[in-house]
Amino acid sequence: MTGRDHTKVHEAHHIHARQAPQHFYNSQPGPAYVHDMETYKKMYKESIENPEEFFGKMGRDFLHWDRPFTKVQSGSLENGDVAWFLNGELNASYNCVDRHAFANPDKPALIYEADDEADNKIITFGELLREVSKVAGVLKSWGVKKGDTVAVYLPMIPSTVIAMLAIARLGAVHSVIFAGFSSGSMKDRIVDAGCKVLITCDEGRRGGKTIHTKKIVDEGLNGVDSVSHILVFQRTGTEGIPMKAGRDFWWHEETAKQRGYFPPVSCNAEDPLFLLYTSGSTGSPKGVVHSTGGYLLGAALTTRYVFDIHPEDVLFTAGDVGWITGHTYALYGPLALGTTSIIFESTPAYPDYGRYWRIIQRHKATHFYVAPTALRLIKRVGEQEISKYDISSLRVLGSVGEPISPELWEWYHKTIGNENCVICDTMWQTESGSHLIAPLAGAVPTKPGSASVPFFGVNAAIIDPVTGVELPENDVEGVLAVKSPWPSMARSIWNNHAHYINTYMKPYPGYYFTGDGAGRDHDGYYWIRGRVDDVVNVSGHRLSTAEIEASLGNNEAVSEAAVIGIADELTGQAVIAFVSLKNSAHPANPLEGESTADELHRELILQVRGEIGPFASPKCIIIVKDLPKTRSGKIMRRVLRKIASNEADQLGDLSTLANADIVPSLIDAVNVQFLEKLKKK
Ligand code: WT7
Repeated sequence: MTGRDHTKVHEAHHIHARQAPQHFYNSQPGPAYVHDMETYKKMYKESIENPEEFFGKMGRDFLHWDRPFTKVQSGSLENGDVAWFLNGELNASYNCVDRHAFANPDKPALIYEADDEADNKIITFGELLREVSKVAGVLKSWGVKKGDTVAVYLPMIPSTVIAMLAIARLGAVHSVIFAGFSSGSMKDRIVDAGCKVLITCDEGRRGGKTIHTKKIVDEGLNGVDSVSHILVFQRTGTEGIPMKAGRDFWWHEETAKQRGYFPPVSCNAEDPLFLLYTSGSTGSPKGVVHSTGGYLLGAALTTRYVFDIHPEDVLFTAGDVGWITGHTYALYGPLALGTTSIIFESTPAYPDYGRYWRIIQRHKATHFYVAPTALRLIKRVGEQEISKYDISSLRVLGSVGEPISPELWEWYHKTIGNENCVICDTMWQTESGSHLIAPLAGAVPTKPGSASVPFFGVNAAIIDPVTGVELPENDVEGVLAVKSPWPSMARSIWNNHAHYINTYMKPYPGYYFTGDGAGRDHDGYYWIRGRVDDVVNVSGHRLSTAEIEASLGNNEAVSEAAVIGIADELTGQAVIAFVSLKNSAHPANPLEGESTADELHRELILQVRGEIGPFASPKCIIIVKDLPKTRSGKIMRRVLRKIASNEADQLGDLSTLANADIVPSLIDAVNVQFLEKLKKK
């Protein structure tokens, strides 16, 4: 076996598929494209048994090709050389913009819900074509060409979508960096991807607050000479934004010089469309590479079939375009289908907790797609706002990013859906490009808490993590893997194909490994249990414990750090960091004095916020004498997880622990520095 240890799932989840609630919901939202389970099953079977024919037809039906493909699929998971739609040529921006602009120029493509509702705006497909063309013209004049990487560091505004599509129009590769990332994280991503051009804005607005975006950019690029041009969108128009002569250019000035039509560049189906950095079990983030043809088809197909999107529907994906959810379901999926997409810049709490419901009422949104963490927040503080609004336009309610508990699922169904909407719990990942496990609205009956069944072409498998053997029956628990290539799967990790092979293809040869634990119940429904690697999920944000540990280790007082995720009522999981100090007589050692310990806590939290971003901030930092280790020096995070979860009575077998004598002091430190403080709050 390959040194893998994916047994964490058994430790963390006592629920077995058999014990899960088993009643079905079957809301019928009207005539769906796929209208019953039998049809789903038939189509699914075709997609698995005859993928060439199934996806060949879908590829021709859903996308416009400049040159038809000559072979549907080649390569294998084992070899890590998967390709789809070989020799086919297309342009993603043409598929998302031009063909709809020609047919329907006045149809809204983007509805911009600005931070301040007074700034809301609609952008039609016709306007989108002109704006995208102009930005493409600017980039072209700067020498951007097919295959070049261009960074985008922008908040959730239409210009971000325009920038991404402009980059794609040239056949260049966009790398969107979530605007919540710190200057350091931004820099790492720009350097890794070798971006020569960056698109950003003067400032951002979120929840009434100003974010000094350009300032963060300037800090990040200090000493980075590889970026030759920066295009700066004027979001707030504040005066005095520093612009470096010869490098920084205003978006409105440069686009004014460009023509309103720029011809799209034909790309090979396998040419990369974009990179998106995500966290893995190693310290440095990895640039997941997505293809043009397969990715775009996956985005379009899942948007159509999972959400059952019809031409006049309005999709409100509340996630940021800086993450994969925004890429696939705010931009590429809906726009490939010519569907109106709502771009939401603000937060569910601004200016009040009625914001989501006002947006839905105002634009008659038919689809709402959000992470459970936002629902938990609303359920707790904003429930009374809901009845003030008419949200009866809704038909499909999506959930994404983390498991949704059966209770929250029921609440979503009743309180938001008025028992009239389909709940689509969609399980997927940055690497999968589009939904892996999700019910087709109107066709697949749903069960609260289960993401239900695999999408077309997703040959899902449960593997026993101990033996590495697939468990083909129903009523099994293990890790989730995929047995054959699907069109929108990631093709590589930027500059590190070996890492791609090692992470996804090597753990279980012949399978793609998702990193998640899962069960399959007696109906063949999947129940996602959470990550089994060193990845934690906080409010739907994917964080690498190794990356946070590395950041803490950068502090000179810190000897070693171990970061774990524990269950949290509001954020799903919360980050807890254990830190040992270089000098145990350090004044910040809680045994030595409380006030300096508080200071160090603050300092370390600020360090993580500054080096990674505010969303990665540990909920608590616990200073300990030493970390629990095996004889070979490996930190036993399992012990820390148990203690921090207040389950010190269930530590289990400690015989592999070399320093078992420190356990009482760990329990003590957790009590004093974390659990007791929690109680006081
Ligand atoms: C990880 C991927 C998918 C877009 C946003 C997150 C977890 C995702 C679900 C779900 C349970 C889920 C998994 C996955 N996850 N959706 N419906 N139920 N868990 O993308 O940042 O790449 O994170 O999020 O653990 O591996 P990501």
